[in-house]
Amino acid sequence: MTTGVLVVGSANADLVVQVDRHPAPGETVLGSDLRVHPGGKGANQAVAAARLGARVGLVGRIGTDAHGDLLVGSLVREGVDTSTVLRDDAPTGVALIAVGSTGENSIVVSPGANARVTDADVKDAVRGASGWARVVSAQLEIPRAAVVAAAAVAEEQGMRFVLNPSPPDPLLDPDFAGPVLPRCDPLVVNEHEARMLLGAASADDPAPLADGLLRTGVRSAVVTLGARGAVVAQRAGGTRHVPGVPVEAVDTTGAGDAFTGALAWRLSQDPDLVAAVQWAVRVGAAAVRGLGAQSAYPRPEDLP
Ligand code: RIB
Ligand code: NA
Repeated sequence: MTTGVLVVGSANADLVVQVDRHPAPGETVLGSDLRVHPGGKGANQAVAAARLGARVGLVGRIGTDAHGDLLVGSLVREGVDTSTVLRDDAPTGVALIAVGSTGENSIVVSPGANARVTDADVKDAVRGASGWARVVSAQLEIPRAAVVAAAAVAEEQGMRFVLNPSPPDPLLDPDFAGPVLPRCDPLVVNEHEARMLLGAASADDPAPLADGLLRTGVRSAVVTLGARGAVVAQRAGGTRHVPGVPVEAVDTTGAGDAFTGALAWRLSQDPDLVAAVQWAVRVGAAAVRGLGAQSAYPRPEDLP
């Protein structure tokens, strides 16, 4: 049987405008025509994995509005199993995204239906997928209880749990971090999130930073470094730097989701974390070459 990944997470309609520079508070700037792209960290991970040929399902909630139809339609076209995506009477999640001239973005998310995902939704879905999913992959745009349930039931079912804690604030809450961090294998963070987690005493260099994350109790940690690649820290294996792949950045939105989706898929095929990060770095690099999140995600033949 084909093994694969169950992604537990958000789906958003991304409303994207390109700007020459980002507005300061109280300021108005004029931008490009509006584009609407399928997004959300959960759906992005799922599509990134599906493009690489993965068997992948998504657990989440999407509204019954026009944005919801757009998102479900795109997931189905990408081959993502949507049988555990519930249609909810709350509005579909929306992300308001401004993309600057060098590809850097600022995002405001309105969670909508994503905020209605329950721990019961997740428990049922993870148990239901235990026959084929080897990896459960989550982010933090859904309620904390749903993520705690994903980590716990993944462990109960002998599935590997991958967490990209974005946005990271819940990890500062010991009631959330306590049950979740010891199940992360790996925790995938950028440098900013790693420093936030480790506090003032954190190292400047990425390798000790990744190593420091092991002290938070995680089983393994990956620190993404953008164009410089990523650092992997494992309890038995020490730290390893995986170099970046040079590409011209058009829009970095969703590059981290592409990285984590690719990582989760590789881990569902082969438990070697360093090899999975080597794949993920190439997929994350490809993802920044085009405007929008999912639209730039590569198929295997597009990889740099
Ligand atoms: O990580 C990128 C994603 O963050 C976007 O697709 C947007 O929906 C927000 O959730
Ligand atoms: Na992109």
